[in-house]
Amino acid sequence: DKGAYEFYMLKEIDEQPAVMHKLQAEYFDEAGNVQIDEKLLAEMTAADRLYIVAAGTSYHAGLVGKELFEKITRIPTEVHVASEFAYNPPLLAPKPFFIFLTQSGETADSREVLKQVNKWGYPSLTITNVPNSTLSREASHTLLLYAGPEIAVASTKAYTAQIAVEAILTKALAEYQELETAASFDVKSELTKVANAMQTAVDQKHQVEKLAADYLATTRNAFYIGRAIDYDVAIEAALKLKEVSYVQTEGFASGELKHGTIALIEEGTPVIAIITNKATAAHTRSNVQEVIARGANVITIVAGELAQPGDQIVLEDVHPLLTPLVSIVPAQLLAYYTSKNRGYDVDKPRNLAKSVTVE
Ligand code: F6R
Repeated sequence: DKGAYEFYMLKEIDEQPAVMHKLQAEYFDEAGNVQIDEKLLAEMTAADRLYIVAAGTSYHAGLVGKELFEKITRIPTEVHVASEFAYNPPLLAPKPFFIFLTQSGETADSREVLKQVNKWGYPSLTITNVPNSTLSREASHTLLLYAGPEIAVASTKAYTAQIAVEAILTKALAEYQELETAASFDVKSELTKVANAMQTAVDQKHQVEKLAADYLATTRNAFYIGRAIDYDVAIEAALKLKEVSYVQTEGFASGELKHGTIALIEEGTPVIAIITNKATAAHTRSNVQEVIARGANVITIVAGELAQPGDQIVLEDVHPLLTPLVSIVPAQLLAYYTSKNRGYDVDKPRNLAKSVTVE
């Protein structure tokens, strides 16, 4: 039920802090220890490479998962678009382990890959919001998102829940493997910080609504730019804006702009820069200067510790591998308000279905 909300999308954006708390309650015991089936951890530990397979927003959550798995557990990880993998699989490592990210658990493109994985006899995990969904039943293991039903076609709380579950899983794996990184990656308390930072971000919604009106009300195109983990978020942010507001939006690695795409920047082109990654912040800042010099109207979404005077959206600081959970929130809100202000049915964008059961 939408309650006082005009659209589910805003309700679901607002629910994200509560989903983080729900995940803490579901995956940690009272003593704060992470609870994940040891058989799953053993099978993942036996693997020499992880393959994350997904579509759309779930694929974007997988890109952040790669950062987590590689940086915390040191397991090489590849992320694949399901529809590409299905009929042109990459050369597999000798001991692959497959992770299917799917909110609905019904996406035909992802299921096609899982069918092949089962034929090959490799172990697999489905991370899904829907217990007993097809991909949950057909994989060797399931982890649930506990995000509650997601009604709006554009995925919001499932994306952040997927990243949080990936973080919880990396923590469990690091502990299981007795890695040094396990102790320093205190996911349970980090998720409390994340929930608070998300809340602060959703509480700024009227400020974001004004930015949407000032920068995006009539534009035909827009760019999101970022580097490293901020690039992963930039492409999800771009998908959100394009699917609900029909603004043609590209998510771009900011350093790559000057290799061609910067030719598209004109007087008034909106460019939204995401800056939470310390190692690349200065470089992204200089890319921002390059687009400003060509007339772009720039919005910056910046982590507190990297903020400078003039930044429009400043986020509370969280663990560097968890910044996507917070930096996506203003981008979700920008998409929401741009769509609503243009008079569209935010929850049911044209040409789209909530679960895509054809290939
Ligand atoms: C975008 C969106 C889609 C889905 C994609 C995969 O907002 O919702 O891109 O993420 O269709 O769906 P699931 O996660 O159900 O497999």
